[in-house]
Amino acid sequence: MFGFSFHGTPRPPFDDLIHRLTCLQSNNLNNQRKPAVVSVDIPSGWHVEDGDNSGNGLKPDMLVSLTAPKLCAKNFHGSHHFLGGRFVPPAIAEKYKLNLPAYPGTSMCVRIGKPPQVDISAMRENYISPEFLEEHLEADPMNQFRKWFDDALAASLHEPNAMALSTADKDGRPSSRMVLLKGVDNEGFVWYTNYQSKKAHDLSENPRASLLFYWDDLNRQVRVEGSVSKVSEEESEQYFHSRPHGSQIGAIVSKQSVVVPGRDVLHQEYRELESKFSDGSVIPKPKHWGGYRLKPEVFEFWQGQTSRLHDRLQYTLEKFNGKEVWKIKRLAP
Ligand SMILES: Cc1cc2nc3c(=O)[nH]c(=O)nc-3n(C[C@H](O)[C@H](O)[C@H](O)COP(=O)(O)O)c2cc1C
Repeated sequence: MFGFSFHGTPRPPFDDLIHRLTCLQSNNLNNQRKPAVVSVDIPSGWHVEDGDNSGNGLKPDMLVSLTAPKLCAKNFHGSHHFLGGRFVPPAIAEKYKLNLPAYPGTSMCVRIGKPPQVDISAMRENYISPEFLEEHLEADPMNQFRKWFDDALAASLHEPNAMALSTADKDGRPSSRMVLLKGVDNEGFVWYTNYQSKKAHDLSENPRASLLFYWDDLNRQVRVEGSVSKVSEEESEQYFHSRPHGSQIGAIVSKQSVVVPGRDVLHQEYRELESKFSDGSVIPKPKHWGGYRLKPEVFEFWQGQTSRLHDRLQYTLEKFNGKEVWKIKRLAP
């Protein structure tokens, strides 16, 4: 509801709507998250200067004051107060001595309240998941990974193929970053990147890495460790040309991990290449761009449980009668 200043009590049908919204905010049924209420300018049911003097108005979590905060905003106790709109010409702001904050960039709103202070040490989740038992496991960890990946897809998670890739240089100094999984088969896990980047430099000195998937809504994490090698030129070539035009040009422009004088430089070079290839000609894959494949030696499937008694099932590749077999162990959480 878009409020506007008024006196007296709210009229039908707004009185009922406001009542329903305030009830939704106070009823915390089944520990469900309360809906967040954002009020624009004057919260519904409030007096423009005195605030919620009836006690029946909305109690917004966020207030977006328009032009300048009204007097009632002094009674706003939510965590997020923003100023919205760019309605005040500088001459008017000066004439009325309005002390308005600068809007960042082209943004239409700016935070004017203090961001909420949280006690990080008190932040914790209680994980509730079905039991994860040895008998639920696939004998082959690749199949187990596919099963969990399918669950992540079915749960419509955002970018379930995003994974943290950790490498270490020749002195053992580790570094991590996110990359996107672009293929998984019996040979391993594939991602694409720049062969002159920091991660590529680490991998040239120390061709071992670890991957980490975290699927928040499923309380699940998967760790994979192993040796890394480049995929074939042919495979990289094929994937490169399957990418959108813009990403192909971006891969040529970005000399990943080197210092750039400013973002304009990248955009200028991008525009030049965009016009060069505007006739639809094939964009050649740069030599320094391609894929890596991690061949797994260790997997760990973790599922969060109550009281921190999480399930951790680890697969390690071990030699048995001259053959490599996957051994499964349960680890203490
Ligand atoms: C969700 C997400 C996905 C990413 N995917 C890739 C990727 O597939 N390949 C890549 O080179 N960088 C990717 N990046 C950027 C990397 O995290 C990183 O900034 C970049 O590769 C440079 O890392 P480096 O300097 O350690 O080599 C991604 C970043 C995020 C947040």
